Amino acid sequence: MRENMEEKQVQVSMIMKLKGFVLLLLISSCDPVPPFEEIPWIPFDDIEINLNLPQYSALRVDGGLQTINGGVRGIIIYRESASVFHAFERNCSWFPNDACATVDIDQSNLFLFDTCCGSVFSLPNGIPNGGPAVYPLRKYLVSVNGNLLTITDDVIN
Ligand code: FES
Repeated sequence: MRENMEEKQVQVSMIMKLKGFVLLLLISSCDPVPPFEEIPWIPFDDIEINLNLPQYSALRVDGGLQTINGGVRGIIIYRESASVFHAFERNCSWFPNDACATVDIDQSNLFLFDTCCGSVFSLPNGIPNGGPAVYPLRKYLVSVNGNLLTITDDVIN
């Protein structure tokens, strides 16, 4: 009787161990979120944009988008309204160290995307809503003073 009990305990403990192992295999094989790879940060001097200049005409209407140099892979400015602008780092948040991890403005002007990994980022917040990316685009601080925008390397998200 006692031997039977011990045998049963050994069997139960083996079954528990096997279940734990199978669970571990399942968890590690279907986790869709990759390890977080932080977008690199490169300091830059304040960027001043005079909206009266012809090269920034796209930013004189709400919903306007403009790509400029700066940041890690460039910056995309989005005008939400006359007093609210957003500055997105173009470095894609999926695998930012990939050579091709650069976000562009879609022809529709309604969202940003990375042709390399197929990630889509919504406006005005830069949150991913398509493709593999799970983290938002980096946003830099923008201040508005009349027709003058100032973008700094301060990260606000
Ligand atoms: S991050 Fe590698 S392509 Fe979007």
